[in-house]
Amino acid sequence: MTTDPPVACVAIAVPPALLARIRGVATVVSPPIAAPREAILALLADAEGLLCSNLLPIDAALMDAAPRLRVVSNFGVGYNNVDLEEATRRGIAICNTPGVLTEAVADLTLGLILSLSRRLVENADFVRTGNWGKTPPPPLGFDLGGRTLGIVGFGRIGRAVAKRALAFGMQVLYHDVDTWPEPGVAAEPRSLEDLLRESDVVSLHVNLTPETHHLIGASQLSLMKPGAYLVNTSRGPVVDQAALLDALRFGRIAGAGLDVLEVEPPAADEPLLALPNVVVFPHVGSATAETRAAMMELAVGNLVAVLGGQPPPACVNPETLAKAIQRR
Ligand code: DGY
Repeated sequence: MTTDPPVACVAIAVPPALLARIRGVATVVSPPIAAPREAILALLADAEGLLCSNLLPIDAALMDAAPRLRVVSNFGVGYNNVDLEEATRRGIAICNTPGVLTEAVADLTLGLILSLSRRLVENADFVRTGNWGKTPPPPLGFDLGGRTLGIVGFGRIGRAVAKRALAFGMQVLYHDVDTWPEPGVAAEPRSLEDLLRESDVVSLHVNLTPETHHLIGASQLSLMKPGAYLVNTSRGPVVDQAALLDALRFGRIAGAGLDVLEVEPPAADEPLLALPNVVVFPHVGSATAETRAAMMELAVGNLVAVLGGQPPPACVNPETLAKAIQRR
């Protein structure tokens, strides 16, 4: 075992005070801002730690390029960019940032629901384009009070959305394949099919896994009420976007609010973007100054803990930790 400090590859911009914390336990190497993946891989030959965004695929090829890797700290709660089975097989701890972004994502979800119900984007565009007083205003919206919200995935974020929806007077249904502790909110469980049939707004809050890929496709959309709306702040591929486009074009559902798409950023001619009944945001669920700072703190804390020989605050494959926290 060497006594040199471990090498940490820091592939995202980190504020100086937090970078100093990493330097307290490791020698830091960093690719230039927005470097291509190959440039990051080239820095991994000796790296025992990697701090990165969840846009970087952590696959077998990356792990081959990083034979000493012990920890990947993902800046984000979602870790669908990681081949978790392969990382676990190789004893690499995968860390993420749960909890600290729950409220921000729930707030944005309500923002999307309100954007749809009160036509916020259309109304703002109507004023911005100088139409006020000149052409008829956008059609009327609808009240949330008394409507039914169906939440698919009732973990931390799903439950935070439920609390907000209840405060707006909505009835809340939920569906989850996992058994969570008592939800602590006045929400009723349903099968996915019943939730889709009964809800006025369906909101998705599941992790992207092979099981949830295209969880909402043509047959699920066909169960929704013709006047219902779909909201997705989880991951784009949870929805079959081609099927959603069809459902929206042919009026099988009333509209959609999307913070995530199957391909991000979308092609300029992505047809969903041109539909008047769709609001698309550029994957900004966690994009508040406070939340991003808390995510950074946690992501750095995860990296520093493992490289410093301690269990990290948030690890998705804790079975790797006994080995990962020891220097190789
Ligand atoms: C997350 O943390 O997973 C959010 O989607 C931001 O990437």
